Amino acid sequence: MNILILGSGGREHTIAWKLNQSPKCNSLFVAPGNSGTAQIAKNVPISVTDFNAIKEVVLNNNITMVVVGPEDPLVQGVHDFFLTDDALKNVAVIGPQKAAATLEGSKEFAKQFLYKHNIPTAAYQSFNADTVEDGYAFLETLNPPFVLKADGLAAGKGVVILEDLDQAKAELKSMLVDAKFGDASTKVVIEEFLDGIELSCFVLTDGKNYKILPTAKDYKRIGEGDTGLNTGGMGAVSPVPFANQAFLDKVEEQVVKPTIAGLQKDDLPYKGFVFIGLIKVGDEPKVIEYNVRLGDPETEVVLPRLKNDLVEVFEAVANQTLDQIDIKVDPRAATTIMLVSGGYPEAYQKGKVITGVDAIEDSIVFHAGAQQKDNQIVTSGGRVMAITSYGETYQEAIKKSYQSIEKLHFDKMNYRKDIGFDL
Ligand code: AMP
Ligand code: GLY
Repeated sequence: MNILILGSGGREHTIAWKLNQSPKCNSLFVAPGNSGTAQIAKNVPISVTDFNAIKEVVLNNNITMVVVGPEDPLVQGVHDFFLTDDALKNVAVIGPQKAAATLEGSKEFAKQFLYKHNIPTAAYQSFNADTVEDGYAFLETLNPPFVLKADGLAAGKGVVILEDLDQAKAELKSMLVDAKFGDASTKVVIEEFLDGIELSCFVLTDGKNYKILPTAKDYKRIGEGDTGLNTGGMGAVSPVPFANQAFLDKVEEQVVKPTIAGLQKDDLPYKGFVFIGLIKVGDEPKVIEYNVRLGDPETEVVLPRLKNDLVEVFEAVANQTLDQIDIKVDPRAATTIMLVSGGYPEAYQKGKVITGVDAIEDSIVFHAGAQQKDNQIVTSGGRVMAITSYGETYQEAIKKSYQSIEKLHFDKMNYRKDIGFDL
């Protein structure tokens, strides 16, 4: 079968790497892709939200499966676009339809869903520009820290956590009245602060059945010891050592089952990955967010641990026969360390030549913000490449990734030296 992946990050290189191992995968296309996907697939230089251009690529290349990496096309309704087009309606799309993608596209919608289906989450209220005074009053009833979330997609920057009440009020005004995040902060969710340790649970569903994939933990802050600005993710570990079986059973009963049942009850068609962001408060799981896709860099540790043929798994998602698939997980740990451009997540330079990739033997290099230019690989984004390794323990895997990184170089290369420090 011919398959198209939408996206250009480390997540999409990993999906391509995994699909490419399947005997069922004939021609693989990635739009727009990066230097890593260029080595194993054909890159197509179109935007992930240009649905008409995607249609042309699909029809011209007999593509019968489209795997959607990032949230934007899902929230904009790429799956619905396929279903309502006579020429495309039989193409399998891995990723939910627009209505269900709103679980990521609107924090308020996600909170309403969580409450309605009795899924444990932080208490909240939501406000708009007309009710900003009520928002101030609500903040006064809470204990610090104060958690403010722009309702819509804000490229991972829409959550602000503040210790000071006056600062929280000023931030609320800035979001609602001064449109700090544009349309994304027309509404703001104010939430109870949850004190605990975070992890991500990945579920694949065909809309009826579900399979739980390995857990992962990512490291969002730029600085060592989880300090400094938030990033897209600086590294990841799978499995998560503190998520023991008793805890995972709670996650399945209290979170996963009611989520999948809730999608059906609310008529939210879903064929794809559900990324459940959790905080473990004491021994209890609480949901902090849903994403309607795989995480990046979590994918770079989750998919390498999956032993199944991913094309077969996706076919089962499309045909709603996921109950017939037996998910097999590599017992080894996998870790990844993200190499980033100096300055990221603030301003940084691009076009730096990357050397040493061919010398890596003990790790897998997943390219992210990197492009082929002439005969070289150059940086093209903030997060440049993810270095994934396996180990009998996560410590051994991390050590391997750091050893591999010593062979890699680009000007102003930066990475966190403490991935796994808190486990
Ligand atoms: P989100 O975009 O919803 O994942 O939020 C970004 C980050 O903010 C999360 O990864 C958490 O570290 C933190 N966060 C979000 N909601 C809460 C909460 N209710 N309590 C504590 N931390 C939170
Ligand atoms: N690593 C977090 C995310 O993909 O949203």
